[in-house]
Parts: sequence; structure tokens; C-alpha cells
Amino acid sequence: MRHEAFLEALRGLAEPTRLRLIALLAESELSVTDMVEILGQSQPRLSRHLKLLCDAGLLERAPEGVHVFFRLVSGDAAGQLARGLLAYLDHDDPIRTLDRQRLAAIQRNRAVSAESYFQRHAAEWDAIRSLHIPEGEVERAIQKLLPKRRIGDLLDIGTGTGRMLQLCAQNVDRAVGVDTSREMLAVARANLDGPDYRNCALRRAPAEKLPFADGSFDVVLSHMVLHFLAEPELAIAEAARVLRARGRLILIDFAPHDATVLGADHAHRWPGFQDERIIGWLKTAGLVAGRPVSLPGSGLTVKLWRGERPELVETHLSANRAEPNLELFQ
Ligand SMILES: C[S@@+](CC[C@H](N)C(=O)[O-])C[C@H]1O[C@@H](n2cnc3c(N)ncnc32)[C@H](O)[C@@H]1O
Repeated sequence: MRHEAFLEALRGLAEPTRLRLIALLAESELSVTDMVEILGQSQPRLSRHLKLLCDAGLLERAPEGVHVFFRLVSGDAAGQLARGLLAYLDHDDPIRTLDRQRLAAIQRNRAVSAESYFQRHAAEWDAIRSLHIPEGEVERAIQKLLPKRRIGDLLDIGTGTGRMLQLCAQNVDRAVGVDTSREMLAVARANLDGPDYRNCALRRAPAEKLPFADGSFDVVLSHMVLHFLAEPELAIAEAARVLRARGRLILIDFAPHDATVLGADHAHRWPGFQDERIIGWLKTAGLVAGRPVSLPGSGLTVKLWRGERPELVETHLSANRAEPNLELFQ
């Protein structure tokens, strides 16, 4: 860290309210309304502190409709510095204990609204689930396609309830889920509350226009999202854009099917996808396509497709080489 950035981060932390905010935001993503409730201070006052913490590089903000969610930055030096210093804070300090109890109440409320959303949709999801193989088998197949080494940055597009983030969080430095649905993000936020998911963040954003710079992720996943999109090829091009060199895209969706109920009752726009179509889109997006995996079920076959972004610099050797075997990249 440069001197000035280091000092700014320390100045950011060196104030009682800001220290409480940082301690809370190291544990959970919170909106300003949540923080007003926990700290019992006015919104303008907290907003001023939050701006200062963002300017000091300690927080990231994710706008979501009328709310903005804040969290302690993960991965970079300012976040590590803050986490390191928080470790010296007395865990049982009365102020921290009270803040933690109020945070727990907010997390319980999130869990209750997530549960009621689930109950409203459970029957519909069960109907789809009964047509394909158990989700556990699909998840095992996804894990087989993930790089064997630890993953730096992972993006889950159309994260829904955040299940893919839960699946991968342990082997990832930073995991980000995007979704367009505020309700789904609220469910994901409830599911990702807790110490196992502190490296997970959520953003409200469309698959077709991701709010990330080129080359930001090592792995991009999208599970059961493409069939909802008018132009899945735009989402694939965006996913490819945000992949780093040798980064991997994993897409999971259905093979072509004639379950018209999925279109009529569940808003699917695509009745599954042919391998050729997805592979064509992967190649157009500049990725090298791997062999698809098929998981046949009673009515629907789940497919897994993968693409890899080649090295940026083509040497005369790699330029002459045939399509790489993706197994080599494990
Ligand atoms: C069937 S759910 C799958 C959720 C999650 N990937 C999983 O496997 O549990 C599809 C998700 O895609 C999201 N979605 C639909 N269109 C989207 C878009 N254009 N951009 C981002 N997310 C989208 C929906 O809101 C929903 O949460």
C-alpha cells in the first residue's frame, strides 16, 4: 500500500462510529437503513461516515433499487488491513456485543422473508426439480469442472438464492453473485449471512451488462439462467469479457426438450439448447469450448458447457497448436 492510502485507511478507522461500522460490515452486507437500526444514529450522519470509508478504500457500495448495500472490501490491501486490525478488538466489548445482537436480529428478519418467498415458490420449483436429476448430482458435476487449484475471483451470473456461491465459497478468495431480481438477492443475502460466506458479495445487475472491468474473474458460472434470456449470446459475450486469460466459463442449462409447461408456466424463453448453438456462442465470444457434459433425467437432460479464455499473448508455438485440451488447465 502506498503511504497516503495506508494513512487514509487508518484515519478512516480511527473514529468510534466508523470502527463500529467496519466491524459490522466485515460480517455482513448492510444497507444504510440496517445500519441506522443497529447504531441508532441518523441517516445523514451515517451516510457521511460511509462516504469517508468508501473514499478511504475500505468499503464497496452496491446500489440495489432504492437501497445501497455496503460491505468491507475483500481481497485488496485496505480490506486486509482492516480485518487484521479488527482481530485486535475485544470480541466481548459491550458495544460490539450489542451491535452483534442487533445485526443478528436483522439477519433473522432476512431469513424470515427469504423463507416466506421460498414457501410461495416451493411448489413451482419442486415441479421443475422432479423432471431432472437431483441437484446434488448436478453440483458434483459442476465441482468437477471447476479448476482444482484455489480460485481467486469467481462470478455467478443469475445467482438467484446464492446456491452456487455457497457451493464454491470455500475454495475461492472472492465470490460475487449478480441477479436482476431484488427478491432473489434478498433471499441470497439471507442465505449468505454467516462466517462461511464473508468472501461473498452480491450486486444487482443484468447478465447482458455486467458492472465489472474486462478480465476481472478467474471463473464465471451461470446455472439455469440462459433459458430466461432473450439473447443468451449477449450474456455469454459479457461473461467472456470479464474472464481473465485462462479463466473458465461454466454454463449449466437444459438440452433441447419438449416440456412446454416450462415456457407456459415458468417463463422459460428457450426450450433447452443444442450443443452446437452454445459452442458457437462460446467461440464467437473468443473462448475455447470444452466437451459438454450430459446428465439425463426422467424428463429433462441437464447439460454443462465450458469455455476457456486463451492466453492473451499467442506465441508462435501456441498459435500453431491445435485446440487445447481443457483437462490440461485443471
Ligand atoms: C432458475 S434461477 C437460477 C438461480 C441460481 N443460478 C441457481 O442455480 O440456484 C434463474 C435466476 O436468473 C435470474 N435472471 C433472469 N434474467 C436475468 C438477467 N437478465 N440477468 C441476471 N439475472 C437474471 C433470475 O432472477 C433468477 O434468480
